[in-house]
Amino acid sequence: MTTTPNLSTRRVDPYNPPAEHARLQEEQPVSQVGWRDDRKIWAVTKHADVRAVLSDARFSSDRSLPGHPTNIGYAPGDKLKQLIEMDPPEHTTARGRVMGEFTVKKVAAMRPWITKIVEEAIDMMLQGPSETDFVVALSLPVPSMVIAELLGVPYDDHDFFQENSAAFVDQHTTPVEKAAAMGRLRSYIADLVNSRIEAPGNDILSRQLSAGADPQDLVGLGFLLLIAGHETTANMISLCVATLLDKPELLQQLRDDPDLMPGAVEELLRYFTIAEIGGLRLATADIEVGGTLIHAGDAVFALSNTANRDPEVFPEPNRIDFTRGARNHVAFGFGPHQCLGQNLARLELEIVLSAVIRRIPALRLAVPFAEIPFKEYGPNYGIYKLPVAW
Ligand code: HEM
Repeated sequence: MTTTPNLSTRRVDPYNPPAEHARLQEEQPVSQVGWRDDRKIWAVTKHADVRAVLSDARFSSDRSLPGHPTNIGYAPGDKLKQLIEMDPPEHTTARGRVMGEFTVKKVAAMRPWITKIVEEAIDMMLQGPSETDFVVALSLPVPSMVIAELLGVPYDDHDFFQENSAAFVDQHTTPVEKAAAMGRLRSYIADLVNSRIEAPGNDILSRQLSAGADPQDLVGLGFLLLIAGHETTANMISLCVATLLDKPELLQQLRDDPDLMPGAVEELLRYFTIAEIGGLRLATADIEVGGTLIHAGDAVFALSNTANRDPEVFPEPNRIDFTRGARNHVAFGFGPHQCLGQNLARLELEIVLSAVIRRIPALRLAVPFAEIPFKEYGPNYGIYKLPVAW
């Protein structure tokens, strides 16, 4: 068995997964490699094998289990669990309660008010100086305003909500400042839940309450929706815009044929696979993956970014092709934990990119592409700051 010194998740090339991961896929697609703290982890790299791991709940998401690769001090029996770290049957019940909020139909009905949020953010951007940080102008505020609307945050509180959400995900805030922002948001969401008990509104929290949800659990759900849906979408918006400005031929394709947009969004989701860290699991049984036996107690990393470049599934995988029909990618995960907000993320991306192309035709990068600060160390891939001008 080949072992490498340590599996690095650092992305050196902004457009491609680490070369080491691609080599593993080619030479030994299921292999045990070094991991943090001198541990070992199974790196699973082929598309079919990644889907097999993510759809098999015996590969546990429960971070409180000893030996789980995402266990950062949880004790068994910790009850502060979010959807993303539950196993069935607990997960099935909890997800079932909220799934109806994010169906294709429900999300399609959000188009008018999301469009309004995006148009207003662009108005604001165009009123200011003709050079700005796109992350601050659009990438972060749009998903933040969208989730605020879904949770029923009153308009007057939007500044508080957006400022603290931004502080929580901002690279410049210290861990202490992040914890403080998180504390303020949690207690804000707790107050919001209480206010909905007294006066229900047209929002997710009110609907969950009237369906009998525990108010305490709702604070956790509100916070998870905020965090899971916020930075991921913001990073994707920035990466898409940076790519289109760096590769004018791709931008031109979308200008010539706006109907290509859904396919373009799907392809860029595949290409960047920003939330790869979601693929960490703990085997709770002996299970064969791609002809290799993984033992109970072993840590497993389903490398979705590498899986999304599997040439057997995506011919010429390192080429961006808006017409390839990349819908079977695993950028939103796969199986029981597959992203709950994926339809919403797709819609936000489509609306933002279409509006930016239509309304700011002169948009350009204000620094060379090589100088853009990418979040190469993760945990989610993305862009810290995207200087643009028009
Ligand atoms: C481009 C944007 C997004 C990406 C790439 C992304 C990616 C992912 C991935 C890979 C997972 C699976 C994690 C796992 O298997 O453990 C996931 C789960 C989840 N996502 Fe997203 N996500 C995005 C946007 C959103 C949005 C907008 C929301 C909601 C408003 C959201 C809410 C969630 C939730 C609640 C889960 C947990 C589902 C469960 O465990 O059952 N995400 N996401």
